[in-house]
Amino acid sequence: MEPSQHPETNLQFPKGFLIGAAASAHQVEGNNANSDWWHFEQMGKLPKSGLACDHYNRFDDDFGIAQQIGLNAMRISIEWARIEPEEGKWSAAAIEHYKKVLRSMKDHGLTRMVTLWHWTLPKWLADKGGFETNEGVEAFARYAWFVAQNLGKEVDFWVTLNEPEIYTLLGYKQAIHPPFIRSNYLTYRVMRNLIWAHRAAFKAIKTVLGDVPVGIAKNSACYQPFRKNNFLDSFIIFVFRYLDFYLLNRIHKQLDFIGLNYYFLRKIKFDWRHLYLEMKPNDPLNFSDMGWYLFPEGIYRVLLNLKKFHKPIYVTENGLADARDDRRPKFLQDTLFWINRAIEKKVDVRGYFYWSLTDNYEWHDGFGPKFGLVAIDYQNLKRTVRPSAKIFKQIFSV
Ligand code: FCB
Repeated sequence: MEPSQHPETNLQFPKGFLIGAAASAHQVEGNNANSDWWHFEQMGKLPKSGLACDHYNRFDDDFGIAQQIGLNAMRISIEWARIEPEEGKWSAAAIEHYKKVLRSMKDHGLTRMVTLWHWTLPKWLADKGGFETNEGVEAFARYAWFVAQNLGKEVDFWVTLNEPEIYTLLGYKQAIHPPFIRSNYLTYRVMRNLIWAHRAAFKAIKTVLGDVPVGIAKNSACYQPFRKNNFLDSFIIFVFRYLDFYLLNRIHKQLDFIGLNYYFLRKIKFDWRHLYLEMKPNDPLNFSDMGWYLFPEGIYRVLLNLKKFHKPIYVTENGLADARDDRRPKFLQDTLFWINRAIEKKVDVRGYFYWSLTDNYEWHDGFGPKFGLVAIDYQNLKRTVRPSAKIFKQIFSV
């Protein structure tokens, strides 16, 4: 079935469906000076994040915009490097700050989903090897416990970790992100430790707060063989899917919901020399500014694949870099259409968070990519709502 061409078409979402946007602390707050990223930025190994969007000071205005464009939820992250700037030293000021942030969200009618760790580490922990070591796992459990204890009343949904697989791949296999290492052994070890870190944080939050919803944000692409009916291409896809489910298979007992971060399609072709090659369909209209192949229908397929875990699902990230805002309206409309189809097929999808509310610091790509429903002018940090943001009111406030 083709996606509808008009946002007005009656898409019925379940009562209580969350419609929001997502962001992470380091990408928007600014001056995250006690983190490993900041350190590498000053060394010239990464673009400087500086003031970022100054969300640290402007959060109230930003949540006001979220409310104004019709959102009823936000996913933010808490910055570990602020909460525990030195080992074992917990910052009361940081806790006070995040209390204000979380209350402001509530005052703006936003359900609060909070990620405990979105890729940045306190510098002191990174110096000790971060998640390469068991000590990293224990430190994370202590941090989760502390945040649950001090901010627990102000959080509606907990996300322990953001995209453990992508973190591990970029930092330990491809050496694009800190700590810029290429090691198969450490890739395995960090992945394993992140699984343990999730379980430990899950336990800590439950011990402190009882029966509150705790999940993880997991990245999944939509994989397709480049050549239809080609055994070798299909075999590679089979392996990719197996690896994709590895994390969830290992933690499904410590998971109240699955957070899905879905962005693009990956067309894979078997190759004798490299094992596989990443192929791109030759249609420029379907690319984001970052060259990601946009395929809204893919979210439907991924959601159907996740059905077997029998967990509620929140789309914790989905979006595109589109500075001209000329692909975003149809992208959003089609994505919501396909999520709706998945719900009709009895997948228990309970919310959608667009990445991101505002333009922000896109990791090693710096401030180039424009993901925001709201544009930021980095000269004066002025916010301007992009036209595509009106789709939420059109679809959800009927
Ligand atoms: C995801 C990250 C998020 C953002 C988007 C574009 O993989 O979780 O922080 O960078 O990609």
